[in-house]
Amino acid sequence: MSLAEASVSVPAHVPQDLVVDIDVWRRPELNAAGLHAQLLNFHQKYPDIFYTPRNGGHWVVTRQALMAVALNDNDHYSTSVGMIPRPPIPIPLIPLTLDPPAHTPFRVVLMRFFGAKKVNSMENSIRELARKLVEEIADRKECEFVRSIGAAVPVTVFMLMMGMPLERFDEFRSLVVEYFSPVSDERRVELHGRIENEMVALIEQRRQKRGDDLISQLLEEKIEGRGLTDYELKSICVLLFQAGMDTVANASAFLFEFLAQHPEIQAELAAHPEKISDCVEEGLRMFGVANTPRVVTQDTELGSANLKKEDMVLFMLPLAGLDDRVIDSPMKFDLSRSRRPHMMFSGGPHICAGQFLARIEMRAMLEEWTKRIPKYSLRPGFVPQPKFWHIIGMSKLQLIWK
Ligand code: HEM
Repeated sequence: MSLAEASVSVPAHVPQDLVVDIDVWRRPELNAAGLHAQLLNFHQKYPDIFYTPRNGGHWVVTRQALMAVALNDNDHYSTSVGMIPRPPIPIPLIPLTLDPPAHTPFRVVLMRFFGAKKVNSMENSIRELARKLVEEIADRKECEFVRSIGAAVPVTVFMLMMGMPLERFDEFRSLVVEYFSPVSDERRVELHGRIENEMVALIEQRRQKRGDDLISQLLEEKIEGRGLTDYELKSICVLLFQAGMDTVANASAFLFEFLAQHPEIQAELAAHPEKISDCVEEGLRMFGVANTPRVVTQDTELGSANLKKEDMVLFMLPLAGLDDRVIDSPMKFDLSRSRRPHMMFSGGPHICAGQFLARIEMRAMLEEWTKRIPKYSLRPGFVPQPKFWHIIGMSKLQLIWK
């Protein structure tokens, strides 16, 4: 355990009735199959916002309404400290760790590459890739889904966008998967350094010889009339690397794990492929994969809590989509819902820049899979082993079919 993980004494501004002494990262039931159902305990047992002295001491927000208020309030909350416990060195990830207005021009640049229009133009090639990968495994009657499809589709798309060498797929992915695991501070800093070095090398290659990839285009971009600095470019690429290499894989793994245990939904999707978009959105609502932090920049109130400058706050985003105050029967996987307010992609100015891409990738995967492999189940004896951290990961999912 690092120093930062240790319990701290409860600060004077925190009333006893808002203290819940739990280590959110190390709860066995959240690091096991079925973790999203277990998350409901947070709504049932704990206040809407509470303070835990673990992991350096931080608030935990469990309800969607409070998340929506705080994530849109740049006057009191900052993204500048990107982890709980606070990392031993600052880890800048542009634009995520910048607050508006500094954040805005970088966000505008990124949305040129990840906005809905741009991403829609990529749909055919994403679908083609998903089809090819599903074809490759369909006759095998079994697969480890994450390596074969769940990560293979989004990570290949991302690596091609960035102009990264596909033969290093497994090496790059294992860097990110480990980075998002509950490793020691020292190891995370080391992994961050390795990711940075890879990105610096890639940027340097593009500087020498431009291609039609995203990095080559970033080298030509201007913000406020000037080109991006080396530091900014590196930081953007490190964020994209982290964001692009694991999140969609995890979201898909949780959705397919659920579907593999629900033949009646598989049959419905096979008979009505037009319901696949709803299925993806319901999966995003029910199986959130990100918990995001903020640091308080000025004393403020959130719900019944008084927050002080420098307090850390954890927004457990998966709980927003499971909040029974805004969703009827939240644990019911319901393809016919007319609305699905969730915060899988967060909210406010930092709402995930990759959300359009993520949705298209998940839809293409599920559509192509359902066409070729309409009935499937978990391999008998396979036990999923999710990891609960800022990113909720599931790196293996064994499926079988006839
Ligand atoms: C299901 C998949 C994904 C999920 C659940 C997800 C979730 C998130 C979350 C929770 C944030 C942080 C927002 C905050 O702290 O308020 C975020 C930010 C971001 N994501 Fe994603 N993400 C996904 C896929 C992607 C992909 C595929 C990319 C790009 C390749 C991407 C790029 C980004 C970027 C650039 C940001 C920073 C945005 C900003 O600060 O303005 N994400 N994402």
